[in-house]
Amino acid sequence: MTRASIEKGFGTLPPKRVSSTSRGQAYIDRLAESESPAFTARRARREERSGLSQDPIVWARARGCNVEDVDGNRYVDLTSGFGVAALGHAHPEIVRAIGEQSEVLIHGLGDYHPSDKKIELLERLVAMGPWEEGARAVLSLSGADAITTALKTAALKTGKPGVICFSRGYHGLSYGPLAACAYAPSFKAPFLEQLNPHIVECALPGSLADLNAIETAIRDDIGAVLIEPVQARGGVHIVPPEVLRGLAEICRRRGALLIADEIFTGLGRTGKLFASAEAKPDLLCIGKALGAGMPISACIGRAEVMGAWGQPDQIPMHTGTFFGHPLSCAAALRSLQLLEENDLIARAKELGSRFEKALSGFDMRRSGALIGVVANDRALRIVSALLDAGYLTLPAGPDASVVQIVPPLTMPFELIDGFAETLRQVWHA
Ligand SMILES: Cc1ncc(COP(=O)(O)O)c(C=O)c1O
Repeated sequence: MTRASIEKGFGTLPPKRVSSTSRGQAYIDRLAESESPAFTARRARREERSGLSQDPIVWARARGCNVEDVDGNRYVDLTSGFGVAALGHAHPEIVRAIGEQSEVLIHGLGDYHPSDKKIELLERLVAMGPWEEGARAVLSLSGADAITTALKTAALKTGKPGVICFSRGYHGLSYGPLAACAYAPSFKAPFLEQLNPHIVECALPGSLADLNAIETAIRDDIGAVLIEPVQARGGVHIVPPEVLRGLAEICRRRGALLIADEIFTGLGRTGKLFASAEAKPDLLCIGKALGAGMPISACIGRAEVMGAWGQPDQIPMHTGTFFGHPLSCAAALRSLQLLEENDLIARAKELGSRFEKALSGFDMRRSGALIGVVANDRALRIVSALLDAGYLTLPAGPDASVVQIVPPLTMPFELIDGFAETLRQVWHA
């Protein structure tokens, strides 16, 4: 697929269906023979539940709000690629930043001899933290990596191994975060013996009164409370800001650190730079939108808390070959610049409220441009019918009862009505 062949306006266009799906089907047959059977099995289970048989589409290219599959069907991406494409897919400035960086340095020597871009990004990130007293940050590749950094930091700082997590919470699936994943028991049941046993699961607090149970649950061995300000994959459940502030206060009283998992919510998605900023958590994790499509994440923490890594008698280490990768750092620096220059935080608010208006009458939960339409046992069918109509959405919640809508923050407002109309049609079909 060459640049020249890209259709004019691709990135801002409504869906377009072509008749054939033969290339996609051939790819999916090959997929079933090569990828982990877990994914094919999940699709089969969903088919069983929804009564629908639907292959995934095979992405060939994406730009802005549009995705095109290998058969030439055009979609509007209301997932932002799992929340990554806040700027839209392949933003030209990001493509340029990656290109320019690739001309000079693709790979460096990470923590040993760092690149200029890594240092510039770290400076930028610590300046963004919500603490007056300064911050330090650790770069990594995935959301799960950043949560791992935060969990290790909390254990180092407090000397306590325990973690409070919240029902339906999702923090990634490598061993550290998996222990605190309360999304689906099946994700961790076979590995329980290998996971941190000091985990306490609480109900997500929706009001100040709910905090009493959490205070009681913070036993003496609990060093961290890990929370998403808005559970995204969990089904768009919102923790009110005053509750988050109350939780931070309880953590301080009980000697535990508050870790805000802002992998999904961070960098404007909820209409704020960080949804947890007012609560001033001790550690804050970001990922997804940070690299605008390049893999990069970060754990940012209060300088005093992060100081735990520098104790001269211990010198613990936490690093990785590709942490601080120059291409990802260059993309992240440019994405932070674009977030600011285009005032995407304000746009997230505006976009979200326009969606809310267009979707009036639906049972909806929303934080900025992170939207969940409650569809109960029809959610899988609705997501599938929307896909047929050219709109990419995802089912959310452990019981897949919510249609999650996560538009690129750059999405043209003109595309909203077409989607709302389609949703009404498939809802009433
Ligand atoms: C809130 C939250 N935390 C952590 C993660 C894990 O990120 P990753 O898949 O990049 O490891 C996700 C991924 O969806 C997430 O939504």
